[in-house]
Amino acid sequence: MSNKATILAIESSCDDTSAAVIQDGVELSNVVAGQKVHTEFGGVVPELASRAHQKNIVPVVDTALKRAGISHGQLNAVGYTRGPGLLGSLMVGASFAGGYAASLNIPVIEVNHMQAHILAHFIKPANQKKHLLPEFPFLCLTVSGGHTQMVRVDDYFKMTVLGETRDDAAGEAFDKVAKLLHLPYPGGPFIDRLAGEGNPKAFDFPASNMPDYDFSFSGLKTSVLYKLQAELKKNPDFIQNRKADLAASVQYAIIKALIRKLKKAVKETGIKQIALAGGVSANSGLRKAVEDLAREQNAAAFIPPLAYCTDNAAMIGITAYFKFITKNYDGVYKAPTPNYRLTGV
Ligand code: KG4
Ligand code: ZN
Repeated sequence: MSNKATILAIESSCDDTSAAVIQDGVELSNVVAGQKVHTEFGGVVPELASRAHQKNIVPVVDTALKRAGISHGQLNAVGYTRGPGLLGSLMVGASFAGGYAASLNIPVIEVNHMQAHILAHFIKPANQKKHLLPEFPFLCLTVSGGHTQMVRVDDYFKMTVLGETRDDAAGEAFDKVAKLLHLPYPGGPFIDRLAGEGNPKAFDFPASNMPDYDFSFSGLKTSVLYKLQAELKKNPDFIQNRKADLAASVQYAIIKALIRKLKKAVKETGIKQIALAGGVSANSGLRKAVEDLAREQNAAAFIPPLAYCTDNAAMIGITAYFKFITKNYDGVYKAPTPNYRLTGV
């Protein structure tokens, strides 16, 4: 057994099978196997996702250990995503982690996926010497395919959800609109790319403004749908002709809704550290808007590298690592919790 804290981490909450090795907070490897099988269905099919995880989990873990240059005997603990996520998907990673840890007689550490998205900011990349970290307390806007949350982060383990979406997540809004525009799944990156060529003011789509720090994105999809239906009656090539303008206008509305609440949170809490997390933080428009907001509010912006925005096991590994070194775990396997809440972690 190594003197260093060496953690194998597994993430399988949705449609990415991922394994990583984190040693003393440094990423030694982070392997992600995506699942192309969902593309033709325009969304994640839960049964197909768990089957693909079953197929991928052993080679992904093997590759992560090999790339890290770590053997079984050097591991101190195995971290895994307990939730939130799809039950069948979670079960594959959780069962694997539980069995693997038991066979090595080392603790298994359960991790909340939403907490992990936030703590991804603290992963030390192997070859990067200086790494600027957010200071506590900071605000984190976690925007993914399944969640949209405004979180006040007081500590690695003390996080308060100030507000969240009441219906669709921001990533879901990107993906649903992308489907209407006949773009492949997941559509967020395609909208992002197209938006760069379009006019964000071409169409006036609603940027929801819910009370407090809550969000709502379901109206946006409906509004785009009605606009398309009306325009397609007049011109069947409307989508084809105006795709970039539509993408830019939708992206503008989503970013406007997010930034409005982030600005309100900065002003009301007085916290001058703003972080982004989750798959949608890969969006180039959102990244720029957060940097602009930080400049305007004299605050600091923390935007993770792309590999740590979308689902990955390195973020599970860093969370398990903090739990391990602070002895904030009991080492016992816990069954997946599809609706695992961030509060109370
Ligand atoms: O965090 P994540 O990988 O998985 C979940 O936990 O949901 O987030 C996936 C979401 C998808 O909705 C995808 O369309 C969105 O992140 N996404 C983007 C971009 N890259 C990924 N949305 C907008 N622009 C992007 N560049
Ligand atoms: Zn996620």
